[in-house]
Amino acid sequence: VAAAAMQSARVYVTRKVPPDGLEVLRKSGRVQFELWDTDDPVPRAELLKKVRGVDGLLCVLTEKVDAELLDAAGPGLKVVSTMSVGYDHLSLEELKKRGIRVGYTPDVLTDAVAELTVALLLCTSRRLVEATHEAKTYWRLGHLEDAKRFTIHFPGLGICVAIAERLKPFKVKKFIYTDVAPRPELANMINAEYVSMDELAQQSDFLTICCALTPETQGICNKNLFSKMKETSIFINTSRGGVVNQDDLYEALATGQIAGAGLDVTTPEPLPTSHPLFTLKNCVILPHIASASYTTRNAMSVLAANNLLAGLRGEPMEKELKL
Ligand code: DGY
Repeated sequence: VAAAAMQSARVYVTRKVPPDGLEVLRKSGRVQFELWDTDDPVPRAELLKKVRGVDGLLCVLTEKVDAELLDAAGPGLKVVSTMSVGYDHLSLEELKKRGIRVGYTPDVLTDAVAELTVALLLCTSRRLVEATHEAKTYWRLGHLEDAKRFTIHFPGLGICVAIAERLKPFKVKKFIYTDVAPRPELANMINAEYVSMDELAQQSDFLTICCALTPETQGICNKNLFSKMKETSIFINTSRGGVVNQDDLYEALATGQIAGAGLDVTTPEPLPTSHPLFTLKNCVILPHIASASYTTRNAMSVLAANNLLAGLRGEPMEKELKL
């Protein structure tokens, strides 16, 4: 009966996901999938139309999976598989209420995100974007810090460990971190010391955020945090824009309260080009590309496709969110 059900499974894929993942779906011979075949997010109205009657949804983080969408899909929806490690775009409560299983893609992107975080750290501390401009114009540029003391932050310590491992060869003096409680099993891997949030702000030369966006972490990087940081410090965010109060960050950067920021994530995305943060020389903004290497995105698409198929078959997923 399960196989027969799979035979006719209908799936909507909300983005032109990398080819390896689509190949997994095709090869399964078990699903009919329709694809929003572009690199841009599917418009909401189109999405609400397309999900009608599907058994499975393979989405990315631009799709808000909430009560409205789940109602539009109807009671046949069994699985939502997101091609992302973050799941703040999914209303877990609504999914749980409806008994819908959820897959996501942790681990396979850890290396790529760690690498991009280090790239942003070097780019901001050595002022590379300004320097490329200077090379073409006046050849005048001051200097900032080199990597000395580095800080890791909040849940998501897994990615922080990968970042710290990559930073070790830069002879970082000390790694410190904070979280709701110490995480010795991970912290010991990089010899990181647990400190309070205030100590973290006061001591860091580089403060990097790796936490998930949750109601508890929403806006947690705010005036209060920036005001305790050193004026030579650099703030890096490769998690979610929502953990930062952007007005407070702008203020801290514009007034020299902190030296610089490197942001792979913002609120909203894309950040309007008229946004004040774009006027600052000491703020490097990227279009959420931390996991965007061919290899990593392919691996994410394969994992998302396998999670989806397992969910449709009623089997354990490789990476399933416990609701
Ligand atoms: C994720 O997977 O959550 C990243 O932020 C997007 O690639």
